[in-house]
Amino acid sequence: MTESRPMSYSRAELTTMTMPHMANILGDLFGGQLMALVDQAAAVAAIRHAGGPAVTASIDRVDFRERIPIGSLVTCIAAVEFVGNTSMEIRVEVYAETVSTGERRHTHTAHAVFVAIDQHGRPRRVPRLVPGTEAEREAFERARAYREARDATRR
Ligand SMILES: CC(C)(COP(=O)(O)OP(=O)(O)OC[C@H]1O[C@@H](n2cnc3c(N)ncnc32)[C@H](O)[C@@H]1OP(=O)(O)O)[C@@H](O)C(=O)NCCC(=O)NCCS
Repeated sequence: MTESRPMSYSRAELTTMTMPHMANILGDLFGGQLMALVDQAAAVAAIRHAGGPAVTASIDRVDFRERIPIGSLVTCIAAVEFVGNTSMEIRVEVYAETVSTGERRHTHTAHAVFVAIDQHGRPRRVPRLVPGTEAEREAFERARAYREARDATRR
């Protein structure tokens, strides 16, 4: 197994065009559709870092800051920011872009935990995570504190 990977290695950026079948009754992006996009982006970052399959263990926070009108482009940027033995803490930032004006807004933030699994579906050890820049080191420490606070609540 690869011993360690830089944080930048697994960063994932997914852009989706929002379509009418993704709407809620108000004509904005349905929350469940947004969750699916967040989950997909997080999964790409997770399997890159793990170098193999990984499953969603939890999505423990999504802040819905504002509505996203159908027709907008939605970009999810996912980064593995901290790892345990087999689990990965992933932050997903969501941006909505109005194509006619080019305006791009940060609309949502989500935190997900993915667990790498082996061929029997059992948790599998992941490479160490190596932050490379000052911003990445800050993200690493923030994610570590977030994980500790969440685990204290879970216990
Ligand atoms: C996620 C899963 C593999 C964990 O298996 P498990 O045998 O319960 O694992 P463990 O209790 O040994 O925990 C393994 C790791 O996952 C973490 N973990 C497990 N459940 C978690 C949760 N709900 N939230 C956060 N972390 C979790 C543990 O803290 C541990 O982390 P570490 O190894 O980095 O210290 C298992 O519960 C599973 O397969 N769930 C279904 C996943 C799924 O179907 N997802 C949707 C489709 S992708």
